[in-house]
Amino acid sequence: MRIESDRRPPSTAPDDITAAVVASFEGCRDARLRELMQSLVRHLHAFAVETRLTEPEWAEAVRVLTATGHITDEVRQEFVLWSDSLGLSMLVDALANPKSAGATESTVLGPFHVPGAPLREYGESMIGEPAGTPALVHGRVLDVDGDPIARAELDVWQNGENRLYAVQDADAPEDHLRGRYLSRDDGTYAFVGVRPRPYTIPSDGPVGRMLEATARHPWRPAHIHLIVTAPGFEKLTTHIFDAESTYLDSDAVFAVKPSLLRRFVRAADDAQRPEGIDGEWYIVENDIVLDRASV
Ligand code: BEZ
Ligand code: FE
Repeated sequence: MRIESDRRPPSTAPDDITAAVVASFEGCRDARLRELMQSLVRHLHAFAVETRLTEPEWAEAVRVLTATGHITDEVRQEFVLWSDSLGLSMLVDALANPKSAGATESTVLGPFHVPGAPLREYGESMIGEPAGTPALVHGRVLDVDGDPIARAELDVWQNGENRLYAVQDADAPEDHLRGRYLSRDDGTYAFVGVRPRPYTIPSDGPVGRMLEATARHPWRPAHIHLIVTAPGFEKLTTHIFDAESTYLDSDAVFAVKPSLLRRFVRAADDAQRPEGIDGEWYIVENDIVLDRASV
C-alpha cells in the first residue's frame, strides 16, 4: 500500500533526525524554553556527529550520568561539580556578571556554602578550633566611585590546615571558619580566619574518575570565599586567593582571576594583633568594590 506523502515518517538520515527533533519544539509557547531546547538538541547532535559517537561510548556516558545522580544528595552535589570542572560555572558567571571597571570580580560559589552562618562582630575570630596560622583580613566595602558602603554583609567561609570546610568535617564545630560580618559606617570590615590551604575538589565520584582518566588533577589553590550583599548593590560571590598558593595556574575549576590575588603578609605590628591570637599571624588587605544594582 502506498503511504500518502504528508503522512510519511520523517527520514532517519542524521541531518533529518536533528531537524525533526528541533521542529518538535515549535509548539512550545515559552519562547526562551523553546530556544534553549532547540539549541541544546542542535549542539548535542552536532557533538555526536563530530565525534562519531559510538553506542558503547553513549552507554558509558549514561552510566556516568546515572552514577552522578546516585552520589548526589543534600550535601554532595556532583552535577555542580561537573559544571565546575568543565568550566561551565565560570562561563555562566562571566555571561551573567559583567563588572564595571574597578568593581571586584566574581567567581564560583562552590558546594561548601551553608547559609545561616553566625553574625559576628567587627574583627571577631571565626576560628572554632586550632586550624593553622591566624590571618586578619580587613579592608573597605566601596562603590565604584570610591564611596564607603555601610552595613554591607560579608558571608565568609574557608578551610584550614586539614584542608576541610566545617561542613565536610564531622569533628569540627559547626561554625568553625564561617561567619557573617557587617561593614561599619566608613565601609571598613575585618575578620580573623586562618591562612587557607589548597585542597582537592571531591574526587571519589564520577568527576574524580573523569579527572583521573584525562590526566587532570583535582586541586584548587588556597582561597577564602565571600558573598557580599548590600541594599542597592549587585550581590557579589567571590574569593580572596592566596597570591603565593600552588595551583593558581591550574585550578581544577578554572576560577582564578588575577585581580582576586592577595598577599598574606607576616604581621610584624603587635599593636594590631587580634585578641586571643598568639604566635605568628598574617594580615591581608582587601578592598571590595560593588556594582550598583541595575534598576
Ligand atoms: C570551592 O571552592 O569550595 C569549590 C568550588 C568548586 C568545586 C569544588 C569546591
Ligand atoms: Fe573553596
